[in-house]
Amino acid sequence: MATILITGGTGFIGSNLAMRLLERDKDTKVVLFDRSPDLSRLTGFDSRYEAVKDRITFVQGDLTILPHVLALFDAHTPDSVFHLGALLSAGAETNPTMGFQTDTVGSWHVFEAARLYCQHAGSDPIRVIFPSTIASFGSFIAPGALVNNEAIQMPTTMYGVSKVSVERLGEYYTRKGWIDFRAVRFPSVIGASRGPGGTTVYSTLMIQEPFRTPSRPYIAYVAPDTRLDIIYISEALDAIVGLHDAAGNSLKPERRVYNIAGIRTDDGQAPTALDIKNAVVALKPDAVIDFQVDPVLQKTSVSNLWSCLEPDASHRLLVRVQRMILDGPGPGASWPTW
Ligand SMILES: NC(=O)c1ccc[n+]([C@@H]2O[C@H](COP(=O)([O-])OP(=O)(O)OC[C@H]3O[C@@H](n4cnc5c(N)ncnc54)[C@H](O)[C@@H]3O)[C@@H](O)[C@H]2O)c1
Repeated sequence: MATILITGGTGFIGSNLAMRLLERDKDTKVVLFDRSPDLSRLTGFDSRYEAVKDRITFVQGDLTILPHVLALFDAHTPDSVFHLGALLSAGAETNPTMGFQTDTVGSWHVFEAARLYCQHAGSDPIRVIFPSTIASFGSFIAPGALVNNEAIQMPTTMYGVSKVSVERLGEYYTRKGWIDFRAVRFPSVIGASRGPGGTTVYSTLMIQEPFRTPSRPYIAYVAPDTRLDIIYISEALDAIVGLHDAAGNSLKPERRVYNIAGIRTDDGQAPTALDIKNAVVALKPDAVIDFQVDPVLQKTSVSNLWSCLEPDASHRLLVRVQRMILDGPGPGASWPTW
């Protein structure tokens, strides 16, 4: 039985990842480490959760406390790690001290614990998968520009600064032969159970609210022409699970961090808020979506606009919106109520 440790395991991506890993392989168990003991994103999968729950261990702890992280490795002897625990952009910006402690120091704790664990056991370096972000590039890149993997990163937020630091630290630990670090840079991830936080949540709610029963109108707080690079949770999981599974010799030694393309409209661009509305209305003609700009949220949403990779036909907007609707609410019998 393989044990996979997921830090941030009760969060949006962590919960969905846990279900993906458990459902694809009956010989996998997961250890979810999180400061939040709220398992509702998992229990909301109802019968699907019931079918796998015996292979889930939850450990409440704090990434900023090294002994918590060390004990985690000692007690659960993981075979690989997805390190997702973090304060996201808004949280880290509101409290930069805590942002640094959680996102930078907390990640170093995970790397150190992984290094010590492997060295004590005399084992091969353990895989540590990490989600970085398009926000790591910084705002000097022109909105809409295609950003390649090696573009210079000059982040302007504590969140972005931490992500770049962790990327470089992970590469360093890999060069030393201490861990097997692999990372992606995601655009904004959309999907049910994402939660209310974050300045870009309108992109999820515009799709989600009209499809509730009964349907709800939604007023987006950004201008219709606001573009945002987004990826659906299912494809985000494909990316990190695929990177986790990749044979070591299939990765270039010098390439440990990969940009992941988001959804594209037919003109190859990241979708505008109006594109999202049009895709929803194409599937549900009576959907009511309006726009009422909140200047503060508009500003921060625009600063999240980045395009990472060449457009890919499999990432067309309408197809992805359709998939999100068909997948349904995900956790819970109805869409979450936030
Ligand atoms: N959601 C996105 O759009 C997006 C985009 C790019 C990268 N990411 C990265 O993916 C990862 C997961 O993001 P998410 O969307 O699931 O966010 P989330 O907020 O839902 O999950 C993060 C989890 O980390 C936990 N956490 C925070 N501080 C902690 C601490 N000190 N100790 C232990 N646990 C702590 C939180 O309780 C939460 O459950 C993060 O690293 C995030 O930066 C997310």
